Amino acid sequence: MSNQKLEYTSEELMSEDNFEEPLFGGEVRCHGGYIDGDYVSPRCKVRKPAIEAWRQRLIDDGQPLIHIPDAYVPPHYPNCEQAKYLLHEGIVDPISRSLTTISIVEGFGARIREVHLPDLGSEVKEDIAGTALAHLHKGLFEAHARDEAGYRDQGGHKQMWEAARDIGLNKPEIPNDVLLRMMSGGRSRKRQRLFPELSARMEDMITFLANILVIETFAEDVFAWAIDLLGDQEVSHDAELAAHLVKCVRADEQPHIDYLTLALSELRARTLVSEDGKKEFEGAQVIDHIFTRQLRGAATNRPRDARERLQKEIHELITDKSRAAKISNKFESLDSGWTFPKSENEQLDILLKVSECA
Ligand SMILES: [Fe+2]
Ligand SMILES: [Fe+2]
Repeated sequence: MSNQKLEYTSEELMSEDNFEEPLFGGEVRCHGGYIDGDYVSPRCKVRKPAIEAWRQRLIDDGQPLIHIPDAYVPPHYPNCEQAKYLLHEGIVDPISRSLTTISIVEGFGARIREVHLPDLGSEVKEDIAGTALAHLHKGLFEAHARDEAGYRDQGGHKQMWEAARDIGLNKPEIPNDVLLRMMSGGRSRKRQRLFPELSARMEDMITFLANILVIETFAEDVFAWAIDLLGDQEVSHDAELAAHLVKCVRADEQPHIDYLTLALSELRARTLVSEDGKKEFEGAQVIDHIFTRQLRGAATNRPRDARERLQKEIHELITDKSRAAKISNKFESLDSGWTFPKSENEQLDILLKVSECA
């Protein structure tokens, strides 16, 4: 059994390493910094070992960790070859839009600090002391929010993606309707309670955490895409710096994935109590149902919407119809395609990773 410390204050979870030099994205001062020449993520001095200690505890308790296998992660659209082709043809807008959209989504991540927690004391049967779950509003959400949207004079992921875009594509024009299209593009799904006997706050919290975990996991493919694209000297203005900034963002995401995985896995291992206190649900039943639903929705709707919109945009951008058709055909031929694993192949146990005891 681990004898590691499991209780932390917000100040501890927010504390910084002793950076020797700050990180700059061009003119923009960003979070984190360098120690011995290596980039070190912000607010990780205690947060990282704390996450390790909570994880060890879960493993010692014999509980599995939620895990999204690579096969469930949709590739970024357009893929790298398609993006490079568009840039070679002088069609910068879709790529500039794509990178701007990523930066806005990163900024939205700060909404995590607004999540209202249910009454975990009465709605979770077992004790939650000494878990990531018990520290969500004791530093974990706030550190996450600052990482994504920046804090005070330090840029976060939003600003780091903007810098990577401007450095890599040499200050491209930004389409002025990026936010508008993002807002109008989503298919609004009516809120549907899956476990109406649980408090709305409990179900909303689980849904929100599951959704963010899915987005954070899918982002791994976005990083690979951006590093490949912005790190290519043929298309990038400053391949080294642009790719480095994206690598720094990627490094910062790991604690987010880790604590969200932990909080959901800890809840999964417990018993949830209905709002009226009369009914009990196995945490695994609730989390697995909500989590797989979020995963399936995100992996099918979003890639399809992205595809439809970009194909339309290429045609809109090129006034010469025959050129538009030609470029569109070539662009389509480079598509690697992707479908979500079929439901009959889906086995929830592959979503769970039982860690070996250390
Ligand atoms: Fe981020
Ligand atoms: Fe993140």
